[in-house]
Amino acid sequence: MMHAARILLVEDDVNSARLLKDLLTAKGAVVTHENNGVDAIKQAQEECFDVIILDLRLPGENGFVVAEHLTRQEGQPAPPIIVTSAFPDKQNRMRAFQAGAVAFLHKPLDLQELVLLAANFARRQQQARAQHLQVARYLNDLGEKRLQRSGHAQSVTVTCRKMVAGLPASTITPAIEASLEAAALFHDIGLAFSKGEGDDHAAIGAGILAVLGFSPATVFLVKAHHITPDSDSDIPELSPGLLASLQILQAAEKANEL
Ligand SMILES: [Fe+2]
Ligand SMILES: [Fe+2]
Repeated sequence: MMHAARILLVEDDVNSARLLKDLLTAKGAVVTHENNGVDAIKQAQEECFDVIILDLRLPGENGFVVAEHLTRQEGQPAPPIIVTSAFPDKQNRMRAFQAGAVAFLHKPLDLQELVLLAANFARRQQQARAQHLQVARYLNDLGEKRLQRSGHAQSVTVTCRKMVAGLPASTITPAIEASLEAAALFHDIGLAFSKGEGDDHAAIGAGILAVLGFSPATVFLVKAHHITPDSDSDIPELSPGLLASLQILQAAEKANEL
C-alpha cells in the first residue's frame, strides 16, 4: 500500500511508537523513529522523507517547534507533516496548521485513517520526487554537454562510492550516504546555468537542488564542494558524517579533474 514510502515517525510514547511503526512497516513503508524533537530535526535534515508523523508533546523541542523549523527552511520544501495529539482543542489545531502541518489527527488515533492519509501524502511526494529527479538528470546532462564533460558526475559518483566503501562502517549513516550519492550525481548541476567561471556553479546548483526538494545535507554538500571547511567561517559546524562526506566529495572531484 505504501511502496517503500519513507516515513519519519516522531513519537515519545514507547508503546504508540512501536504500534505505529509495526503497522506502517506492515503496509510497506520504511519507518524511521525518533522520540524527541531535536533528533527529529537532525534526521529530517540528513534524509528525504515522504511524510512526517509528528506528536505535539515531545521532550526537547515540542512538535510545533519541529514543524516550524522544517517548514521554514528557505527555498526548501518540507515533506507533508501529519500532527497527532491528545489535545485537539482549536488553539492547538490552529498553531499546528500555522506551523505548516497538513493534517491534525486526534489521539487515540483512528489507525485506518492515519494509514490512508499517510499513504495519500506519501504517494504525492514520491511522484513529485520522481519528476524532480528527472529534471535534475536533464539539467545535469545539459551542463555536462555544454562544457563537454559528459560522464563527469558519474565518474565522481563512482569514486565517492569506492571511498565510502573504504571507511569504517560507522563513519557515515545510510541517510548521509544517500545524501552524498545524490550530491555526487548532481554536484555540478549548476553548470547548466553558470558562465563556467570560478565556482559560482556550486551555489547555483545548491539552489536548484533545494527547490527540487533534495535533502538539506545534499544541498549543503553541493554548495560547499569547492570550499575547504577550515578556511571558510561560513560553513556551520558539521556532524562528523557530513564532514567526512564533504571531504570525500571534494577528493573525488579533484581525482576526476580534467
Ligand atoms: Fe564543481
Ligand atoms: Fe565536478
